[in-house]
Amino acid sequence: MSKHDQHFANNFSVVIGVLIVVTLLLIALARSIGTPAEEEKAAADDITKAQVTARTAPFAQVAVAGADNTALAIPSASGAAPTAMALPANGEATYKAICSVCHAAGIAGAPKVGDRAAWAPRIAQGKATLYTHALNGFQGKAGVMPAKGARADLPDALVKETVDYMVTRNQ
Ligand code: HEC
Repeated sequence: MSKHDQHFANNFSVVIGVLIVVTLLLIALARSIGTPAEEEKAAADDITKAQVTARTAPFAQVAVAGADNTALAIPSASGAAPTAMALPANGEATYKAICSVCHAAGIAGAPKVGDRAAWAPRIAQGKATLYTHALNGFQGKAGVMPAKGARADLPDALVKETVDYMVTRNQ
């Protein structure tokens, strides 16, 4: 080998060596950047799998006698059985809880309890008419009286008792 070739071989080995080191560094760098993203992707895959399972699950399931059917129990949103709104105890309580919303201040054209002049012509119609209007709702000149004050669950007798209470306060 000539001296020139010797020199070339030395330089060439150094360059190759440096390139190998750079390659290894780049591989290490790429791995350190790439690994978390891979983990995220795997986690996202798990979520996606769960969503796909949920969305493609059959919407009906059959309870089998003798088998464990606990997974079919219908979960309640709050965890407790829904309770109906409590009914007020009497006419006065009903007025205070429901009717006073409009009738105490005269909201939306409601005749104010205590405003005798406003109530006199209404009372003059007779109780039967007042009951009907309170029970079924009533569109008058002043506004709209919603049926049962918009509490459809009130028993008729309680609504009548409430009308009685409102009337006695305006006589
Ligand atoms: C959302 C408001 C509102 C609520 C709540 C409400 N009312 Fe009324 N009520 C009215 C309005 C408005 C009128 C007057 C309608 C008209 O004459 O134009 C009225 C009128 C009446 C009248 C007179 C009807 C007539 O023939 O002149 C009675 C009796 C009455 N309400 C009873 C009740 C009772 C009992 C409740 C509760 C159970 C109640 N209201 C709750 C708005 C309301």
